[in-house]
Amino acid sequence: HDKLEAFPEDFLWGAASAAYQIEGAFDADGKGPSIWDEFTKIPGKTFEGTNGDVAIDHYNRYKEDIRLMSEMGLKAYRFSVSWSRILPDGEGKVNKEGLDFYENLVDELIAYNIEPVLTLYHWDLPLALQEKYKGWESREVIQAFKQYCQVLYGRLGKKVTYWVTFNEQNVFTSMGYRWASHPPNATDTKRLFEANHIINLANAEAIKLFRKMVPKGKIGPSFGYGPVYPLSASPDDVLASENATDFNNSWWLDVYCKGKYPTFTFKQLERKGIAPTIESGDLELLKQAKPDFLGINYYHGGTVAQNKIESKSIESLNDKNFSATDPYLMQPKEEQSQSPEVPMFQSSENPYLNKTEWGWEIDPVGFRVALREVYARYDLPLFVTENGLGAKDMVTDEGTIEDDYRIDYLNQHIMEMKKAVTDGVELIGYCAWSFTDLLSWLNGYKKRYGFVYVDRTEQDEKEMRRIPKKSYHWYKELIADNGENI
Ligand code: BG6
Repeated sequence: HDKLEAFPEDFLWGAASAAYQIEGAFDADGKGPSIWDEFTKIPGKTFEGTNGDVAIDHYNRYKEDIRLMSEMGLKAYRFSVSWSRILPDGEGKVNKEGLDFYENLVDELIAYNIEPVLTLYHWDLPLALQEKYKGWESREVIQAFKQYCQVLYGRLGKKVTYWVTFNEQNVFTSMGYRWASHPPNATDTKRLFEANHIINLANAEAIKLFRKMVPKGKIGPSFGYGPVYPLSASPDDVLASENATDFNNSWWLDVYCKGKYPTFTFKQLERKGIAPTIESGDLELLKQAKPDFLGINYYHGGTVAQNKIESKSIESLNDKNFSATDPYLMQPKEEQSQSPEVPMFQSSENPYLNKTEWGWEIDPVGFRVALREVYARYDLPLFVTENGLGAKDMVTDEGTIEDDYRIDYLNQHIMEMKKAVTDGVELIGYCAWSFTDLLSWLNGYKKRYGFVYVDRTEQDEKEMRRIPKKSYHWYKELIADNGENI
């Protein structure tokens, strides 16, 4: 260990959350509905029909939650703003109470010396924009997003330094437009790539406006990054892994950082008639919006082989428990059958890795690989904006939560992150997912990530008592010595 370099003095040890997963108060103080308020009410979409109407009631308990953060010594807290709290119709009239809530939250964090990291969009598009414009499928929404950004930059630009534009654009577009497991509940790759392009433009507009309004701030997207391994040293498998990297990662990161789409994937989509429509001026706009940093959410990567899959077996992959960065997630369905053109890749099991209870590979070395790949390709400072373990936590008879498995998981990942820092990766901070337990979008409360247990179940809200887990105390010590003794 002594060969590893120390984390920077001002390293931001943090934890993260998202509005819909914690706030509750879904219609309080003038908030408008979001697409998630509607989607979770569709029977069969979420585990036991859970929704964020109440979540963990953070809207009413944020002071208690922030006090727990400060007792832990947390240096940064990443949260997202609910757009429809600020603009109930997504555009037009501003809701003062919504803005007050976030300013109070930010003030409270600052009072405890906790750096706020504000995510503008963590998936909860105002429902009004979905209904009026078909959401991200229409360019009108870019204007609405600009207004939303303008309001927040104006109000919080002097208080918040770190801003995240979009959380995991790869995940919410794939889940929403290809797999129908997020709103808007579609399975149409043409629509996916059109909407995705419009979101790229919105991202660029948000960054451009930021430069004018918050010149001292730092802004960037948070991407769900997974490194891709070839199943074997066969050149065909290696080519497949390059295809998968291009398709799953560069498809977004190149646009953010270089202002252009990767050539091979673009041509592939063109041949299939599903490439996005690029209007004049689009590429110029994308080029003008280089981020200050890249947010990286890391859970795991994926392994691929040359594509030999029979199309009929694809259906078996289409269940709710696949995870965000699995390579097959993004692949157009038609590509997964034998194709005479460019058979891009086929997802495969990795024989070297264990999995979580939810079938997600546990791959700490992949974290180091991810950080190095992204840093080497894009040459921007990185900020780990999510990493963590979803598990079923049990409260013991003594009322404690002995989550040694989570400590073990985080410890291994932070160790690999330290190696990446030693390698030379420039890292701003690390936000574990998550601070408190929260609503898993699709898995209710049985899949928990927090340092702080929240005593509620799907059916029974109980008192929602907060109980720091063993991992809370472990992370507190780690922060205190800046990761020296991991
Ligand atoms: C990330 C999201 O994709 O994964 C989070 O940004 C999410 O919002 C996290 O909660 C874990 O996903 P899940 O499905 O295990 O709750």
